[in-house]
Amino acid sequence: MQMQGQKLMAMIGTAVSGLTQPATILSALQDLGRRHVGYGVQDPHYDTVGAALLWTLETGLGPAFTPETRQAWAKTYDLVAGVMKDAAATPSR
Ligand code: HEM
Repeated sequence: MQMQGQKLMAMIGTAVSGLTQPATILSALQDLGRRHVGYGVQDPHYDTVGAALLWTLETGLGPAFTPETRQAWAKTYDLVAGVMKDAAATPSR
C-alpha cells in the first residue's frame, strides 16, 4: 500500500508540474491508462480512487484544504483519470 501511494503521488506530482503544458504528459498518461487495463482496473474504480485522494488530502491538510483547493484537485484528478480511461478504451497506435 505504501509503495502504491508513492507511485500515485509521484504520478500526480508529474501531472501537477505538467498542468501548464498538458500535451507533454498526454502520451505518458495514455500509456499509463492502457497499462491499468492489464492491472484489472475498470472505469468505476477511478471514482473510488478519486474520492480516496480527496479524503486523504482533506484529512492531511485540514483547514488548508479550502473549497478552491478541493476543486482544483478534483479537476486535476478528473482530467488525468479521463485521459487514462479514454486511452484504456482505445487500442494503442
Ligand atoms: C489518476 C489515477 C491513477 C494514477 C495516476 C495511477 C498511477 C499508477 C502508477 C504510476 C503505477 C505504477 C505502474 C505503471 O506505471 O504502470 C500504478 C500501478 C497500479 N495501479 Fe494505478 N493509478 C491510478 C488509478 C488507479 C486505479 C483507479 C486503480 C484501481 C483501483 C489502480 C490500480 C493500480 C494497480 C493494481 C497497479 C499495479 C500495482 C503493482 O503491480 O505494482 N490505479 N498506478
